[in-house]
Amino acid sequence: RLDVIETFHGILFPGHLHTQDSLQLALKFPFQDTDIVIVSYPKSGTTWMQEIVSLISSRGDPQVSQTVPNWTRAPWLEHHYFAVVLEASPTTPRVITSHLPHHLLGPTLQGSKAKVIYVSRNPKDVAVSFYHFHKIANFLPEAGSFPEFLNRFLEGTLHYGSWFDHIKGWTSQTATMNNLLHITYEEMSLDLHGVIKRVSSHLHSPLLEDEINNCVKHCRFSSMKDNKMANYTLVPADIMDHSKGSFMRKGKIGDWKSMFTEELNQYFKSIFQSKMEDCALEFVWE
Ligand code: PPS
Repeated sequence: RLDVIETFHGILFPGHLHTQDSLQLALKFPFQDTDIVIVSYPKSGTTWMQEIVSLISSRGDPQVSQTVPNWTRAPWLEHHYFAVVLEASPTTPRVITSHLPHHLLGPTLQGSKAKVIYVSRNPKDVAVSFYHFHKIANFLPEAGSFPEFLNRFLEGTLHYGSWFDHIKGWTSQTATMNNLLHITYEEMSLDLHGVIKRVSSHLHSPLLEDEINNCVKHCRFSSMKDNKMANYTLVPADIMDHSKGSFMRKGKIGDWKSMFTEELNQYFKSIFQSKMEDCALEFVWE
């Protein structure tokens, strides 16, 4: 099913991981108040947050995060294998991951006290990271040239839908949903210790200073790049072609500069300004 595309509520999803049934079931999922839900648009720091949450749950002990793949520790709600994996997941409380936009998943979470962590990243770096990921992920369509890809990103026609809808949908809830914490990739890069502290307090699981330091040590880019349970090298080569690049690629803020020409930057800026007119979020670009 590597080349199958599922269209659900107008959004494209890889058929290798999603079915109409799995997507429908995601929207009916009975969340428990103890659940931890990590939500993000692709390439925004999802895997990093999965690692942070796993390490917080084990108070900085890397035993589970180094022996259980992240897709078992924090399974994807909308994937077809979700129910089976959730059942087998050793993590308590349950950690669930999703790329769904708020207009689809928000109603399912309504009334639940599940603790949601929304992870975002500056969209220029998201687009560049996603572009490189398309080259190694055989379940995603051809990336084409970077200008073509960026155009699809800005139009919102890539798999997983529009970045603009995603960020605006979820972050517009931070004022009213007090179980929602918004963390950015840039905050994780610039102050990992502070982020771990904030996330652990959001999860009502405050840690001692030493425990936080252990979490930091094990979820740094260099540690995660070498952790087979987090770096996706366990995925077979026909699904992710590791000869073409790594999932843990650069792990930096500002890598957009390696792909954006001045012309593309101006084009990006004009679309960004018009689409984000109604959104006051500030971004760290470099
Ligand atoms: S996915 O496919 O949606 O789950 O991807 P996601 O995990 O959201 O994003 C992948 C990018 O996050 C980078 N990454 C990290 N950066 C810094 N430190 C740590 N620990 C870390 N872990 C993952 C990863 O390298 C991808 O970014 P790029 O820019 O491509 O390197």
